[in-house]
Amino acid sequence: MRIAMIGGGYVGLVSGTCFAEFGTDVAIVETNPDRLAALREGRIPIYEPGLDRLVAENVEAGRLTFGDDMAAAVKGADAVFVAVGTPSRRGDGQADTSYVYAAVEQVARVAEGYTLIVTKSTVPVGTGREIAKIVHATRPDLDFDVASNPEFLREGNAIVDFMKPDRVIIGTDQSKPGGTERAQNILRKLYRPLYLLERPIVFTGLETAELIKYAANSFLAMKITFINEISDLCEKVGADVNDVARSIGLDGRIGKKFLHPSPGFGGSCFPKDTRALTAIGRNAGSPVRLIETTVAVNELRMKAMGERVIALAGGDVKGLTIGVLGLTFKPETDDMREAASIVVLDQLDKAGAQIRAFDPAGMETARPVLPQGVTYCKDALDAATGADILVVLTEWNEFRSLSPEKLKTRMTGRKVADLRNIWDPESLKEAGFDYISLGRPDMVHTA
Ligand code: UDX
Repeated sequence: MRIAMIGGGYVGLVSGTCFAEFGTDVAIVETNPDRLAALREGRIPIYEPGLDRLVAENVEAGRLTFGDDMAAAVKGADAVFVAVGTPSRRGDGQADTSYVYAAVEQVARVAEGYTLIVTKSTVPVGTGREIAKIVHATRPDLDFDVASNPEFLREGNAIVDFMKPDRVIIGTDQSKPGGTERAQNILRKLYRPLYLLERPIVFTGLETAELIKYAANSFLAMKITFINEISDLCEKVGADVNDVARSIGLDGRIGKKFLHPSPGFGGSCFPKDTRALTAIGRNAGSPVRLIETTVAVNELRMKAMGERVIALAGGDVKGLTIGVLGLTFKPETDDMREAASIVVLDQLDKAGAQIRAFDPAGMETARPVLPQGVTYCKDALDAATGADILVVLTEWNEFRSLSPEKLKTRMTGRKVADLRNIWDPESLKEAGFDYISLGRPDMVHTA
């Protein structure tokens, strides 16, 4: 089989490469000349463990190509996937579908014969139907179908998430006679390797598939926000949030994942998708109030984290040196989009602190979005050198092995704000540190 993947960004590159790994011929269309040049030279413009090797192997095998010729890619393709960006639109938070519609129009212009257009990007409910209108208006003669096939890839884990998904969602236009069967047959064949691995493939309607994506991400974001609020309550009543999370997670109806307290959720998806879902709800006259609250609580939480660090310093960080471990929105990525560090370091910088920072992968991507005065260090101990306060913002594994004794040899002060609960409160306190973390007895405030 052969497919075209429109968009060589995070979703298109991972999905296209994994389809090629399944044995499908994949032509990725990337119109950004710099990104196209990088891909053609085998330079992967995103940090995704294992992706560079997988791309190289499939290019070598002749199953994966990169180009900017839409006609060549679309011609004879069994399916044309649209994986271009859908950023948050300024103002109402609705997803901006202009890039999707532009790509679809281009596909329609060059398509010959039956064409199956599949949205892989996260798109507002109703986009698939809008795409059908655009294609019909552009090419009244064209025989085509539209399908929705949202992705559930986690950054840093994307290849595994594609190869071993909990489920594949395929939405087709069930109102169109015959449209569903053709589209489903093609996509069933494309996903056959997963089917053989007994990974469930759910066939449903277009709008349903589009809403499933938003509902999944928003539920996960809400689950995180729930444990973050429980974490704050634990601090007031002297409970341990790790034990609460573990214990409720043992209930199969709740599940143990995504119950780790944090400075708040960031990334390119949760913030964007929660805002988009609230806009979809408002526009449809059915507001999703739980997610509106999730968005508001998460934004307040990031600000509250900066205030906690300032409170740890006695209310004033002016002139103090603050070491920061971790800048990216989560480990195993260089992605800084909506990372908690952007909010927290801005607060600390404005309060007059001197910031020393280290992140294993995000140093270059962090520089443009963090305050000018930040000093970028060569490793974690360098960031701790001379620090009055040390703050953990991203739970990179390499930080977990840092011992209190080692920190004491570098730090000037003895204050630590562990905002990812990576260290043990007892060992830090025994070493003489004034240690705060999230939702654990060390944070007990006497009433
Ligand atoms: C997410 C979804 O998991 C994925 O299915 C979807 O396709 C894209 O969005 P991603 O944004 O890459 O993936 O990262 P994820 O691992 O979900 O983490 C998102 C944010 O939530 C991060 O800031 C992370 O630190 C935070 N998080 C995650 C928590 O605060 N607590 C948790 O328990 C888990």
